[in-house]
Amino acid sequence: MPVRDLHSTQEFFAPRAEGWEDRFPDDDPLFATAVEALQLQPGDLALDAGCGTGRALPFMRSSVGDTGSVVGIDATPEMVAEALRLGRSDTASLFVSDVLNTALPPQRFHGILAAGLLPHLPDPSLTLIELARIALPGARLVLFHPISRAALCGRHGDDPDTSVIAPAILTDLCDDLPWDLESIDDGDQYLAVLRRPL
Ligand SMILES: C[S@@+](CC[C@H](N)C(=O)[O-])C[C@H]1O[C@@H](n2cnc3c(N)ncnc32)[C@H](O)[C@@H]1O
Repeated sequence: MPVRDLHSTQEFFAPRAEGWEDRFPDDDPLFATAVEALQLQPGDLALDAGCGTGRALPFMRSSVGDTGSVVGIDATPEMVAEALRLGRSDTASLFVSDVLNTALPPQRFHGILAAGLLPHLPDPSLTLIELARIALPGARLVLFHPISRAALCGRHGDDPDTSVIAPAILTDLCDDLPWDLESIDDGDQYLAVLRRPL
């Protein structure tokens, strides 16, 4: 899928929201692993940016416990409606919002997950700057895809070598951004860990 403007992205995901999770029935352990990489602690505040139907939210909730808080935001109202239908408001506060204009307060989150998000953004670096604004110093940002970069790009009709999640491109991007790139697992799943400098 070529990068789209926000309206086109919403139009793309809206009809896919209902039954979204039925298409990926085996992904739960992969999302659990992605959330583990955030290294959240009880009492932390965590954000799922582009949460979709909220597949990761139960894992984030169990990491931060009853004393922590989880927020899920997604730009497609139908995705958030499906998250609500699935009962995900029991695990997180859910909002319809563009990640680029969250109106969330600065330096607040201990950990941020962005699963399946970055390749859909018209300007990933602007969004990474916004996520850095709301992250606490030392916070982790996990960029995750439950399939490989090659499979993902094949699905979207993108060139894996020029994708924003290609290791060389993400490394260059982070050089200019307030994120330190700690690790990239570019295997059967894609999982990059970024850290907000202290
Ligand atoms: C591939 S889906 C992944 C959803 C979910 N994270 C998951 O893994 O199941 C991408 C999601 O990103 C959302 N999205 C795309 N651009 C966005 C933006 N600028 N702000 C917030 N959400 C966005 C879409 O609405 C969609 O729900």
